[in-house]
Amino acid sequence: MGGAGRHPGRHGGVSHSHDKPETWAAAAGRRPEWTQNREGTGGIVNPPVWRASTILYPTIADMDSANQRQDETLFYGRKGTPTTWALREALTGLEPGAEGTMLYPSGVAAITGAMLAALKPGEHLLIPDSAYDPTTHLSHGLLRQLGVQAEAYDPLIGGAIAGKFRPNTRLLVLESPGSLTFEVQDIPAMTAAARQAGIATLLDNTWAASLHFKGIAAGCDMVMQALTKYVAGHSDVMMGSVSATPEWFGRLRSTAWQLGHCVSGDEAALALRGFRTLPVRMARQQESALKIAHWLKAQPLVERVLHPALPDCPGHENWKRDFSGSSGLFGVVLKTGSRADAPIFFDQLSHFGIGFSWGGYESLAIPTSPEKLRKLGGFVPSGLSLRLSIGLEDPDDLIADLSEALKRMESIG
Ligand SMILES: Cc1ncc(COP(=O)(O)O)c(C=O)c1O
Repeated sequence: MGGAGRHPGRHGGVSHSHDKPETWAAAAGRRPEWTQNREGTGGIVNPPVWRASTILYPTIADMDSANQRQDETLFYGRKGTPTTWALREALTGLEPGAEGTMLYPSGVAAITGAMLAALKPGEHLLIPDSAYDPTTHLSHGLLRQLGVQAEAYDPLIGGAIAGKFRPNTRLLVLESPGSLTFEVQDIPAMTAAARQAGIATLLDNTWAASLHFKGIAAGCDMVMQALTKYVAGHSDVMMGSVSATPEWFGRLRSTAWQLGHCVSGDEAALALRGFRTLPVRMARQQESALKIAHWLKAQPLVERVLHPALPDCPGHENWKRDFSGSSGLFGVVLKTGSRADAPIFFDQLSHFGIGFSWGGYESLAIPTSPEKLRKLGGFVPSGLSLRLSIGLEDPDDLIADLSEALKRMESIG
């Protein structure tokens, strides 16, 4: 899959992956061979949903020739159909410099697929102490069983990560901002150090959805995102993706195929539908989240707002230098309360759902306990900590909801 996807526009023009995000989101993956009739005299807007396990061949010669190519050839359901190829092409266009993208049945499966592409028994892996919890579990669980040694590092270490490299270090995992605590990493300095030492890098870019931060351009070898969040955007799809450089894509794809990772045409179509409105939703969610974050910052009961665009956030300078915007997910630390008081804050919220995940059109809120996940310590909340995922509701309604919740917290003193 080439990074510069092309398709004829309405009047026969051509769209490229270097178009503005809204333009690319509207056009990506709508190749004529996936949408038009055989004569080329008419077509449909969206690549259709292809459901496939068996592919039938007219002749043995056709079967043998499909076997030679396998990718972007109808070969067997697991190797995809035009629906999944269209989504892959759309995602590749979000990461300039990427050779291609693979799809996975969840964000966690994407992380697993990328890590297994890079690591062998006896090798050493560095992961940020603020990594998404299942990434840490995988590193210290299954990967340890396979003979890989994982080590946590301070997410704000920057270029000094080079001091952690060992002769057998093979992969540096990055996640920026970090889960729950939102540290923004110095990705360019860290990828430069890794490149110099011949160490591969994998970035979890889910927060920025490859819109507000371009991981491959910043020197990463592989960039994953949980499409479950912003790309699908409607809280009804589980899916992940990894985009990779020309140097890494072959290995990534071969690993995904060996592991049997694939997604259905139905779900790929849902993710593509989400993709069309991704930049528009993100713009609105960014705006609302910033309004709410600034409002929270001014509340007497709020100790800290962990939003990368606010100076309170660790690594804020990196965000300012490297990101083109922010999304709708951020953390809050209150001055009072503890996890045991969470029902007082959360149970009566009327516009925020209580639930895991994020990036959907609807707002969510959960209590968090990042201090329990840290291996290196360093996060000491003064009171109850929480995470908000701001959706598409009117931000003033959300503020009114949070205002009531803060009043309830005042009662516990
Ligand atoms: C930062 C981050 N990465 C990856 C994932 C995993 O995605 P999924 O839930 O699709 O497995 C999540 C899910 O919460 C996440 O927050």
